[in-house]
Amino acid sequence: MWPLLWDGWTLQPPDSIFARMAILKIARMGHPVLLRPAAPVADPLAPGIRKLVADMLETMRDAPGTGLAAPQVHVPLRLVIFTVSSERAAREGGEEVPPTVLINPRVEPLGEEAAYGWEGCLSVPDLAGRVPRWTRIRYSGLDLEGRPLEREAEGFHARVVQHECDHLDGILYPQRLHDARDLIFTSEARHWAGQVPSAFASSSEADGKEAS
Ligand code: NI
Repeated sequence: MWPLLWDGWTLQPPDSIFARMAILKIARMGHPVLLRPAAPVADPLAPGIRKLVADMLETMRDAPGTGLAAPQVHVPLRLVIFTVSSERAAREGGEEVPPTVLINPRVEPLGEEAAYGWEGCLSVPDLAGRVPRWTRIRYSGLDLEGRPLEREAEGFHARVVQHECDHLDGILYPQRLHDARDLIFTSEARHWAGQVPSAFASSSEADGKEAS
């Protein structure tokens, strides 16, 4: 068997074997790369950036996840990818978002309104937490071709972008918890359908209203 396998291997041009996309290892909470501010991308058109984005897209699809920031794959650069599928948009409310690459992003809130919502993170596996985010934002940056990209977003779309861009400043969503009771294992989420841990324990009016 071995000679046949070897012949098959050597017949492939090296590019198709070695230059294909790869699934990257995801850093988990506790790794220092997740706590450091990331550096700006100097040249969005560099071949290394294109390869990084291809691998990050593959890694996000495999996980599966809705977004991924470069520091999560041990690359301390200001680059994020995200997407909101039609199914997810239907479930969370809001719009579908095509796979987006955002380099050196800036995020600014539009208005003062913030809302609580549940988040998960590939770097914080098996957990979910309820954290506040701006309801409406404008975000900008460069795309993979180095062209300016600017969008306004609200709801889940806005939440995903804020979550991913937080990674570039060394912030994980548990750091945004207002009440540590709002951090739960996803396996226990069934106990909190339509309710949240802190709202259940404290009868705070605001908690009940803002749950989403
Ligand atoms: Ni995350």
